[in-house]
Amino acid sequence: MPVKDDLPTPIRDNHQITEAMTDLYDRYYTSHEYEKRYPKPNQGTLHFLFENGAREAKNILDFGCGSGRYALPLLQQTNARLTGFDISHAAIAELSRFLQDNPHAERMRLFEGDAQILNGQGDYDMVMLMFGVLSHVGDHTARLATLKQLRSLMRPEGKLILSVPSIFRRRPFELFAAHWQRMTGKARDTQKEPGNILFTRNIDKQAHQFFYHLYSVAGLRAELQEAGFAITALSPESLLPEWMITQHDLLGKLDEALLPLLPAALGYGIRAVAVPA
Ligand SMILES: C[S@@+](CC[C@H](N)C(=O)[O-])C[C@H]1O[C@@H](n2cnc3c(N)ncnc32)[C@H](O)[C@@H]1O
Repeated sequence: MPVKDDLPTPIRDNHQITEAMTDLYDRYYTSHEYEKRYPKPNQGTLHFLFENGAREAKNILDFGCGSGRYALPLLQQTNARLTGFDISHAAIAELSRFLQDNPHAERMRLFEGDAQILNGQGDYDMVMLMFGVLSHVGDHTARLATLKQLRSLMRPEGKLILSVPSIFRRRPFELFAAHWQRMTGKARDTQKEPGNILFTRNIDKQAHQFFYHLYSVAGLRAELQEAGFAITALSPESLLPEWMITQHDLLGKLDEALLPLLPAALGYGIRAVAVPA
């Protein structure tokens, strides 16, 4: 298999990753391509949130909330106060528009930009990082800093609920290419960490590079442990790709029914609940 020797991208350090993710998600939400690709929440994941405390929670932070795929149904179906945060201005602008005629809007507040804005704002009994948000944050150092920040915003009995892309199900070519770069000594900065990949997707007719850290169950457990969390529940996020099950209700129902047969590590994503240790 031919493998390019050159780094495929100028995205190398954590700062460049955040800038690139902000630009691409701004475009993703402004063009409405995100909502077209993922028009609904994953119903199994929504049930997972309810089974793991969303109904009882009083104060929820949805970190990387996007345009509210999970925050809006939670606002509708619980009495919790919700805080939505995203690095993308377009995501928060879109979510504000959705809130304009929402009778529960006074229970929701929104923040955008630098995550430091959340410091001192929180006493959350649930924090969500849904559908790969943590994977976009950067290398291990950056992800650890984010997890520690979120832990500091949580009540001692609070729950962190997250879903991350599985290393066994996603982007084998890019994983191999990244592995090759490391083997040949060509990987630099964030690309030196196993599991970190870059891939290109066209958004609104323009090529964009995504940064992802892909997780094994063991890797997720170790990272959460280092940040002061212990995993209390694990499950696969879906068998089929997220776009397929959120665009087709029947496939979504079938997928959810099959999930108990699938080990968490073999899900398209891995869902976890973690508590401060
Ligand atoms: C795949 S989307 C998931 C959005 C939403 N949670 C959902 O399930 O639809 C990833 C989101 O993470 C946000 N994001 C990327 N890097 C981030 C960071 N460093 N801090 C906070 N949010 C980030 C993006 O702007 C985007 O909205």
